[in-house]
Amino acid sequence: MEKLYEGKAKIVYKAQDPDKVVIYFKDEATAFNAQKKDVIEGKGVINNKISSIFFQILEKHGIPTHFVKQLSDREMLAYKTQIIPVEVVVRNLATGSIVKRLGIPEKTPFNPPLIEFYLKNDQLGDPIICYEHILALNLANDQEIKTIKELAFKVNQILKDILIKHDIILVDFKLEFGKKEDGNIVVADEISPDTCRFWDAKTGERMDKDRFRLNLGDLAKFYEEVLRRIENEKD
Ligand code: C5P
Repeated sequence: MEKLYEGKAKIVYKAQDPDKVVIYFKDEATAFNAQKKDVIEGKGVINNKISSIFFQILEKHGIPTHFVKQLSDREMLAYKTQIIPVEVVVRNLATGSIVKRLGIPEKTPFNPPLIEFYLKNDQLGDPIICYEHILALNLANDQEIKTIKELAFKVNQILKDILIKHDIILVDFKLEFGKKEDGNIVVADEISPDTCRFWDAKTGERMDKDRFRLNLGDLAKFYEEVLRRIENEKD
C-alpha cells in the first residue's frame, strides 16, 4: 500500500477506493511532544478496536465521522479528509495542562464542559489558541468553528453517558476534525485511551495514557480493561 503520511502512533495509506484511506495503528507511545517514547506491545490493536467502537457509537447517534469499518486488528478504513490543524479538547474535570497553566485545583468540575483549541504543530509544541486565532490563521471559518464546537460537545455527552454506565469517568479528551471531499466536517483521527482521560469511577485509577506519561505502568492492561467494558456497546 502507498504510504500517505506517518504520524507518531499511526500510518495512513492509500486505499483502493480513491475517497478512502487505510489507517494503521502502531504500538509506539509518545508523550510531551515526543520527548518521551516507548513501544507498548499490542497498544495499536487495542486502540484500533476502541476507536472503532467509539466511532460506531457516535455514528449511531448521528455524529458524522471518518469511520467506514474496522479492516483488521491494526487497520481501519476511513474516508479521506483534509485534517483541520486544530486539536479540540473538551474537559469535564480539571487535570493535566489546564491545572499547570491556570492553577485550577485538580478535579475541579467544569459545568458546562470546557472547550479549548490547540494549534496542531509539533515544532511549536501545539500552543493553545482561541477562536480569533483560528480565523486569523485561516484554519476554519466561523460556521465551521460553530459546527466543530457543537459536534465536540455532543461527542462529550454521548461518550460520557455511555462510559459512566461502565464505571468510567470521561475526564477530558482531544478530537480532530477533517473536511471530506464533499466539504462536510467529520470527527477524524482516533478516539482512544491515548487521546482521552478515563478514570475508574470506583477506584479512581487512571485507565489512559497518563499511565505512560506518569510512569504508572500496566498501560496495556488498563487499555484492555477499557475495551472489555465497552465492547458490547457497538451492537
Ligand atoms: O495535556 P492536556 O491536559 O491538555 O490534555 C487534554 C486531553 O487531550 C487529554 O485527554 C489528552 O490525552 C489529550 N491530548 C491528546 N493529544 C495532544 C494533547 C492532548 O490526545 N497532543
